[in-house]
Amino acid sequence: MGKLTEEELNKSIEYLHALNDKYDGIGQDFLQYMEGLVHSTGLKYWDYIHSDSLLGLQIPRTDYPDEIIFITYHQICELYFKLIKQELNLLTNLETKEFLDINSWYKRIGRVNNYFKHLCNSFDIMKSGMDPREFRAFRMALLPASGFQAVAFRHIEIMSTNLNNLLGTEKGGQQEVLLEEMYQHIYWKSGGIDMRSGKKTLTLLEFEKKYDKELMRWLRKYKFRNINFLYSRLDKEAKKDKKLIALLRDFDVLLNVHWKLSHLMASSRHLPKDDQGTGGTNWRKFLPPKFQKIIFFETLWTDEEKKDWGKAGVLKAFKENIEKGWMKPNKFEE
Ligand code: HEM
Repeated sequence: MGKLTEEELNKSIEYLHALNDKYDGIGQDFLQYMEGLVHSTGLKYWDYIHSDSLLGLQIPRTDYPDEIIFITYHQICELYFKLIKQELNLLTNLETKEFLDINSWYKRIGRVNNYFKHLCNSFDIMKSGMDPREFRAFRMALLPASGFQAVAFRHIEIMSTNLNNLLGTEKGGQQEVLLEEMYQHIYWKSGGIDMRSGKKTLTLLEFEKKYDKELMRWLRKYKFRNINFLYSRLDKEAKKDKKLIALLRDFDVLLNVHWKLSHLMASSRHLPKDDQGTGGTNWRKFLPPKFQKIIFFETLWTDEEKKDWGKAGVLKAFKENIEKGWMKPNKFEE
């Protein structure tokens, strides 16, 4: 490295003054920090990304190599969920009030949709990317754990819509009931019921023990802060904005139809028709979006579209999204 040019020298002096002001402002000796800089080594990729820790987190329970695919893909999903939650959290922040600016909606919901497109498109890793025989064998060693217990997925739902929209087939006329009571009817609780005994599975009981209190806190926090609620409070102009409506409708379809269908297709490949879900659940009745009928933004869909949610409407959207390249053209087995 040669001598500094005059321009570089002037820039350096500018930085030195700025740094001096910064450390002065927090009562620190600027010169000591400069000396530290001379001795410090640069940041290394592996220290910053924590690649050793990250790559040490895939710990199988069996000797089947495909179990590593199963664990790693779940972890990838968790990381995407984290990014999605960050966007929803920033948009709904009551202090910064980002939600008052329509450009923030474009940016944040656009990013959420992008993450979901990747999630939908990559589900093939679970469907055709694992050997069904190996899957069936190692799955038994993982009981009673299930992706059903992925709490980040529930956080995303709570951040996106009112609890009333998460009541599934039991919705309607529940507005006056306490949040705690409504929570008992949240749609996914029916996905953790043993089809023979009608009792809660261990998978659900353990999830409730670990997360019920936390989820109640989330429900209270997001009651007047979720995306659906904040959208309803936007001014008339913004509410009619075509680009925003399209983004929110895409979000609804991507999560509540396409992700769920991609997941259902993977489940259908690996769990034979007569097979029960974790702890004896009736997953064929629970997983299809047409039975769940979960819609985050109810005012953005016509009655016809809502009626068809999970039926023709879904299949139409399914085809559209294959055309858009969000999903691979898989045969939908139901
Ligand atoms: C071959 C792979 C997979 C199979 C066979 C499978 C199977 C199932 C089944 C049967 C259920 C119903 C509840 C139960 O009986 O456990 C379920 C629910 C669920 N799984 Fe998976 N799953 C797979 C991959 C994944 C992945 C990669 C994720 C990502 C985190 C995931 C997340 C979920 C979620 C969030 C639910 C609840 C869905 C809802 O409430 O609509 N699953 N899964």
